[in-house]
Amino acid sequence: QEVYQYLLVETRDKVGLVTLNRPKALNALCSDLFSELNTVMAKFDEDQSIGAVVITGSEKAFAAGADIKEMRDSNYIDNYKTNFLGHWTQISKARKPVIAAVNGFALGGGCELAMMCDIIYAGTKAKFGQPEIKLGTIPGAGGTQRLTHAIGKSKAMEMVLTGSWNLNAEEAEKAGLVSKVFPPEQLVDEAVKTANVIAQHSQPMVQMAKEAVNQAYELSLASGLLYERRLFHSTFGTHDQREGMKAFVEKRTPKFEHK
Ligand code: CAA
Repeated sequence: QEVYQYLLVETRDKVGLVTLNRPKALNALCSDLFSELNTVMAKFDEDQSIGAVVITGSEKAFAAGADIKEMRDSNYIDNYKTNFLGHWTQISKARKPVIAAVNGFALGGGCELAMMCDIIYAGTKAKFGQPEIKLGTIPGAGGTQRLTHAIGKSKAMEMVLTGSWNLNAEEAEKAGLVSKVFPPEQLVDEAVKTANVIAQHSQPMVQMAKEAVNQAYELSLASGLLYERRLFHSTFGTHDQREGMKAFVEKRTPKFEHK
């Protein structure tokens, strides 16, 4: 097992579990932390024994945002030349499903990282916010885009423009940002449990389903429906579709080839 400076990495059955581990800075997402996260994600994406990934933080903070101390002195041209934060988008390109298990603060880039994941579970003390405006800047990794898609314009505007209106776990669930809320100490186990359910299915089907859902954010309805239907057609070219439907008829658990 590799050793990382800012992450704890383990596997539980078919699930990769990544814990952000920079407690002194409330998991502020410095550049090296994100590079490590990208490395781990790429490894899990390649590892055929892994079916899904869970990303979590500590009970106090999932992540308190981009590292303010690291970026405070950077300037426009350097940001442009290095495409600052560009490397963050790799998480959203992961092919395997990723669940964010959010306890405590998910602020700024922390909220944005959670939203790059496919499913968000929250602990009862979670807090989601986009406080960048208070720092004299704006969200830079999806806070104006993914948040608006997730919770609608009025709530997203209020969060982004005031910087101080945060959603607690219950509000986040009601708004559709979060799918389930758990007591903090159960959160990671519940996320791993769901990830293991996902990992029991045919992996190519899981990935196609993820791709199709994600197209809902990119395409018109007609194009999205066509994309979905063509992928659906293609599943009939696989062993796992044959086996899944045969098993249903024979009233038994399917034995998927690609698990
Ligand atoms: N960057 C760097 N360091 C951070 C940090 C961040 N985003 N958030 C917290 N820390 C550090 C603090 O500076 C402090 O370090 P020291 O002990 O060396 O002073 C340590 O973590 C503990 O933090 P606090 O003492 O502030 O803890 P608290 O419990 O009093 O407050 C908090 C918690 C409300 C989350 C507060 O830390 C906070 O407001 N953090 C900043 C949140 C923020 O503005 N995030 C947005 C960042 S910008 C961004 O993310 C841009 C983007 O879109 C990508």
